[in-house]
This record gives sequence, structure tokens and C-alpha cells, in this order.
Amino acid sequence: MKNYRANATSEMTQLERENGQIVRELAGECMVILENDGILPLKGTCRVALYGNGARHTIKGGTGSGDVNARKVVCIEEGLESTGFTVVTENWLNAYDAEIAEEKERHQKKIKKLAEELHKPEINVAFDYPYEDPDAPEITEKEDAELAIYVLSRNSGEGKDRYCRKGDYLLTDREEANIRFLTEQYEKSIVLLNTGGIIDTTFLRSLKGLNALLIVGQTGSEGGHVVADVLTGRTIPSGRLTDTWAKDYQDYPSSADYSHNNGNVNDEYYSEDIFVGYRYFDTFEVEPAYCFGYGKSYTEFTIQTDHVEIEKSDVMFWVDVRNVGDEFAGKEVIQVYVSAPGKDMEKPYQELVAFRKTSLLPPKAGECVLVRFPLAALASYSSKDAAWELEEGDYLIRVGNSSRNTQPVAVLRMKQSKKTSQLKNLFDEDDTLTKLAETETGKNALAKRNDRVKKETEAALANVPVLTVDMSKIRCEEPGYSVGARIEMKDHFPERTLTMDEVKRGDVTLEDLVAQLTVEELANLCVGTERLEDDANAVGCASDSVIGAAGETWSALEETRKIPALILADGPAGLRLQPHFKTTSEGEKISGGEVFGMAFRPFPENLPADTRDYYQYCTAIPIASTLAQSWDMDLVKRMGEIAGAEMKQFGVHLWLAPGMNIHRNPLCGRNFEYYSEDPYLTGRCAAADTLGVQSFDGQGTTIKHFAANNQEDNRNYTNAHISERALREIYLRGFEIAVKEAHPYSIMTSYNLINGIHSANRYDLLQTAARDEWGFDGFVMTDWYATQDTSVMGQAPDKYTWASAKQAIHAGNDMLMPGCALNVTDLIQGAKEETEMTLADLQHCVRNILSIGLRTMR
Ligand code: BGC
Repeated sequence: MKNYRANATSEMTQLERENGQIVRELAGECMVILENDGILPLKGTCRVALYGNGARHTIKGGTGSGDVNARKVVCIEEGLESTGFTVVTENWLNAYDAEIAEEKERHQKKIKKLAEELHKPEINVAFDYPYEDPDAPEITEKEDAELAIYVLSRNSGEGKDRYCRKGDYLLTDREEANIRFLTEQYEKSIVLLNTGGIIDTTFLRSLKGLNALLIVGQTGSEGGHVVADVLTGRTIPSGRLTDTWAKDYQDYPSSADYSHNNGNVNDEYYSEDIFVGYRYFDTFEVEPAYCFGYGKSYTEFTIQTDHVEIEKSDVMFWVDVRNVGDEFAGKEVIQVYVSAPGKDMEKPYQELVAFRKTSLLPPKAGECVLVRFPLAALASYSSKDAAWELEEGDYLIRVGNSSRNTQPVAVLRMKQSKKTSQLKNLFDEDDTLTKLAETETGKNALAKRNDRVKKETEAALANVPVLTVDMSKIRCEEPGYSVGARIEMKDHFPERTLTMDEVKRGDVTLEDLVAQLTVEELANLCVGTERLEDDANAVGCASDSVIGAAGETWSALEETRKIPALILADGPAGLRLQPHFKTTSEGEKISGGEVFGMAFRPFPENLPADTRDYYQYCTAIPIASTLAQSWDMDLVKRMGEIAGAEMKQFGVHLWLAPGMNIHRNPLCGRNFEYYSEDPYLTGRCAAADTLGVQSFDGQGTTIKHFAANNQEDNRNYTNAHISERALREIYLRGFEIAVKEAHPYSIMTSYNLINGIHSANRYDLLQTAARDEWGFDGFVMTDWYATQDTSVMGQAPDKYTWASAKQAIHAGNDMLMPGCALNVTDLIQGAKEETEMTLADLQHCVRNILSIGLRTMR
């Protein structure tokens, strides 16, 4: 008889209640005030004319595997009403509801029909043809209300990139007309952006009568309450942008060629190179609508840097932050940017190297914040020398509260160049890649940039301290690289059957145990349990032990060898499990129920009376892009603890989160699952999330998707052409920080290829970079179906094919998920015939997996 940790009643548990409360308390701090003429916080509740597609259908988070099956979502209408506002636009909202219901039905029929025609599972068709809200009804009459609020929502999800078109990145004509009507007819009007990413704000910024513009983001189940709290000042929003919001989509350097924009989804050339986000806008002097790090407060602050010093190899300074307003409390985000000399290497105008958020400062209160960062953080990767290097020259340090509002605080003088780590180039740069910096435009912009930085540094020298760095104190690290083929583990205890219990007690080693396993057992341990026999199309719900969890590992050796199975469930906006499932009285799962929002299959009718019902409602926390806007690592950690507590309750070992790909382009369909355009901020957030989850013994995170998973169209088969330097500085940097700072249990490789080789098959990425250079000591898994033919799911390969199972094992991609029978046979054959992989490779992978299994054992 199977045992489930799920609840036997649908009643709200104490944990669910408490977690909801924490989200309500904290999520408002992630919201970013873009504009506010003083209307916010509102002076009290009032009659409000509420409109927009997010008023009633507030989006809690995006779609796909990143969706969380929460019990309910408090919409903005409900949040406002429960706070004391009177919403007077019920008729308009009802009329829109009817249109939405009709559109949803039409969409579902379309998906069904297409699935039949194309012989694809519905879920995959739904990825390709996401539901879009119908345009809102025209607003023609002014209601009797003191305030008008328009909630503009946008949704996106995996498998599909967004479009720079009306209704998505751009506003529809109707949305513009409606919002204009509100600003003209009402004395007070506010627009709330319930989006997971960037949209075009040209129209909104041009509107005369708009009193406030607020990014409320997508904050999970409590969304409506959080918004009401923020509007009324019960919670003080203190978010800052983690991306550059451009004036025009075309201003993003990757916009012309990104994903479907140029009609080529097979090859993606990262020609902007390291100039991603503000690194581009600042260097190429493109004025954004809202710059990286920007956000207003309900109050004003002064920031005064008091003292800067170098202690050993760290730069430290004390910043006095003061709330100089009279009325409201607030939190300020201290951001530190550095402009490096740029003599031999091209450098961005500036880069974020440190940040700190203050506590909640009441009016007139101040706080002295210590900010520190290692000198090595100022280094750039030189592919010429295969090393991180600090160039000789003056480094200008600026401190402020956004990337474009800073003051110089010190100049660090380095009298000679110095390597901070000597590595190896790993990623076979593709010579068809033309880098922006090498073009005429690039060369001119960089020459201007160097000039500008030089002048600014010279000007600063008169006012700020110059600290000469003792370069002899900076160590050059040299990782120990694995050399030669892996060595086969030999059985030293042929007379007995070793178990994991003995390994746990320290009587024998993991290697001793692994050496005793047969090739068949080893292969099975490296492949998830789905095996494509049943439910092959139900993406991401392959676990039999925790229903709705994305996958689990082979449990056949649980009895004899005490090898535990690991249960893996999605995130990152909470835990994605099936909220309600049924079993027979014997505990056998009955098919049916909700897997994620768009995949619901009814339970069979006339089930016997002894059918059992189980419930696993999880808390939807803010999506990653909203969470990161808090710039508050304690807050992010706290959200990780929420996921961790629910993993513990339901018996999940590995959270398939956080997602930490870089926001290279605003149209990436999964940007909402990732934190930022900046790798440093990304790495810090992923580390904080991980520390939260891993504060529970035996539970870990899976940082994903490693690496360069920046496009969703043709995501399984797209080849990212990227330079070694851009990989090191932008696309791998966050992963490196998270690994070093928080030691996540696992890493999930991405679907895409990097310079012609699938990341799942890259030894240089998994063994050389992650393990040898950064010290990663967990196990690596593939993304779902990465080593199998996905044509059956309607994702047919075009120019490139799927990743090789055998090469994955050789590369140190230890686990193939969710698992298929063919992968097992392949690995057995590979190990026996030593083709593309060896038996030693397979043993090595099992050892890595079991090292995490060991941590989950009590
Ligand atoms: C996604 C992963 C997810 C997995 C399991 C894949 O489609 O890319 O992020 O963890 O499914 O659901």
C-alpha cells in the first residue's frame, strides 16, 4: 500500500495559511514605482473605477512548468474590496468576463482540433498557441468614482517567445484608448502593470493626466491583497528595476535577430557579446525609458559615502542613508557600479559590483550600511590569456540608487595588471560570430566610452579618495583540472552486498558501493522513471510517489541497497504539484486532475465509495523577475524557505528551481522565471533562494537552465553562438556565484546547443567549468526529454537534433530526465562497448547522484 504525504482533507493547513501571510507581508516590497506624482500612497479607501484584463483575472505567475497550482488567486478587484474600496465597474468587468469565457472556450476547442490534426499532445499545442485575452470592451462612460485604476496584464510561458506586437509587448489600440479615457475623465488615475517582464511604456509615459504607474509584477496567490496594501501604504513598495526598460524595443541590441524576429530559430548569434542590458545602453549611450536599478519611493533619501578602505583583497565602505521625507517610511537600495579602465580589453561603461538594501527607515531616520566587494569582482575575462584579469589603471567607483543616479566615491588605482584566476578557454568560439565591439559602430562607441570614463575619473580625482591597491595581495587562483579518463571503481568487498546505510555510517565509501552495481543497475540509476510507457505527453508530472511532481529517480534498489529515490518538483514560483488527486483504497493513483493550469483531465465517473482524495495546495510566491526587484536577499531567502517548508511537507527532495538565465532580450517567453539582465544580481538571488530551500536538511535546489537558455521558440534545437568571454562574464557568471555561495544540490542543463554542442553533452561546461573550476559537488540532470526524440510531442528537430544520452554521461550530466527506456539501453550498450562513454563514466555519474541521495537520508 502506497503512502502519500499529501493531506487527506482539503481544509487549509496551518502552513499554507502562514506562508500566504508571509507572501502578503513581503511581496509588496518587490513592486517598482515608475511614476508617482504624490497620489500614492492613497489617503484612504474610496470608490474606484477598476478596469483592465488583470482586474479580475490577475496573473499570479506565468504558464508552463513554472506555474504553481495554488488553492486560489486573490485578484485585484477582491484585494481592493476586502480593503474597503468600492469597485463601481462591475458591469464592465462582467461584460469582459463573458468575452474572456467565450475566448477561453474557443481557444480550448482550437487546441483540441489542432492536436488532432497535427497528432500532437494538447499540452504541446497549447505551448505553441498560448491563450491570449480578447481586447477589453471600450470604456465609454465615466462612473461615479474618485479614482480610476487600469490593470494591464501580460502572460507568457515556456515553449514560446513573446512578440513585439500589440497585445503583447505593445499596448493594443483599445488599451490605449481606454487608458486615455480614464486620464481625461477622472481626476485621479493609476496604471498597474501585472506583467512578468518588460512592455513598451511610450504611450503611458506620454499621457498627461496619469498620476502613477506601478509595476505590481506577478506576486502569487495573494496578488490582490498585496496590491491593495501597497496602494494604501500598508506595505511600502521598495522595488528597483532589474532590467533596462528601453524607449523602443529596437533599442535592445539583440532585437533585430532575436528568436523569431529574423525568421531563424535554429541559430542565434550573440553578437552584442558582453553588451547585454545596461552594459549596452550605458556604453552605447542609448537613453532608456527607465534605467537598470531605477525605482521611486514614497519618500526621499540622501546617500552619503563616509569612508572607503581596502581590507586585504576586499573594498569596503560605509554609506550613510537617511530618509529625509516627513511622512513615509521607506527602504533604499544602495547600488555600487564600477567603470574599469578599458585599455586592452573592451569594457562596458559600468558594471554592478555590489548592492545592499536598508531596513525600513521611518521619516528622518538613518542607517549606516556596510558595503563590500572583492577586488577580483572588477576583473574581466580575457580569452587571449584564458584568465580573469585586472587591468592596470584607475577604476572609478560610484554609489547611488540606480545605474544612472550615482556619485563617485573612490578611485582604485592599480599600478600593474594582475590575473585573478588562470583558467582554460573551453567553448570553441565560432568564427562566424561577428561581435558588436568589432564593428565600426562598436569601435567608435568604445573609443568614446574610454574617453568619457577617463574624463569622469580625472574629474573625480579632485573630490574622492584614491586608494592604491597592493597588487601583491591579490592571489591568482588556479583550479585543479581533472586529467585523463575517469578510473573504474573496483569492488573491494566481493563477499558481501554493501548498502547506503553503511555508506551513511562511514563504514564504506560511496565508490565501494557503486563498484558493486551491475551495468544494468547503473544505467537505470542514471535515468528517471518515466520510461515513456504511460503519460508520455504529460510534460513534467512523472513522479509516482508525489503526484504531480515532475520526476523521480529509480527506486528498485531501495530494499536491497537502501538507495533512496529522489523526488523532483518544479518551481520557481512555489512548488508545482497536483493539488487534488484520487487513489483506490489500495493507494493506486486514479488518472485525472490538474497538472498545470492548462492541463486538466476529468476524473473517471462513478468511482467506488472507498476512493481516497488527497490535497497538495502549495503557496504561489512572486515570480523570479518580480522577486529580484526587491534587491533584498533576505526576502528572496525567505521565499526559498516557503518552498522548502512545503517540499518538506509533501516529501520533495529537489526543487527544479531557481531558474537563472539572463534576460538577454525582453521577448524570451520564460524571462518571468529568471531574475535579471545582470549576472551578478542573478547569481546573488539564486544563491539566496538556494540558501532558503537548503536550510532544510536533505532538500536542495536545482539551478537551471545551464546555460544560455535565452530563447523559447525551437528551444530544444537552437544553437547559441556565443564568445568565450560573454559566456564567462554574462551567461555562466550567475551560475558560478550561486554554486560558490550556496552549493545547490543540483544543476539542470539546458536544451540548447552552445557553439554547436548541446550543453547537456558538454564535458567542458559540466566537468571543467562547474566542477573543476567552481567546485560544484552535486549532480547534474538534463532538462525534460533533452536526450530523446521529441517529435512525438510535436517538437521535431530541424537543423539540429537532440542531445546524445551517452555523451551526456561522459560529460558528467549524471541524470537523464524524466527518463525513457531507450536511454537505459543506450547507456548499457555504451558502457559495455565503450562507445562515446565508459563504464567508469557511468559509475562516476551514479556516484554523483548517490552523493545527493546520501544527504537526503536521515
Ligand atoms: C522545463 C523545465 C522543467 C521541466 C520539468 C521542462 O519543460 O524546461 O524547466 O523543470 O520541464 O517540468
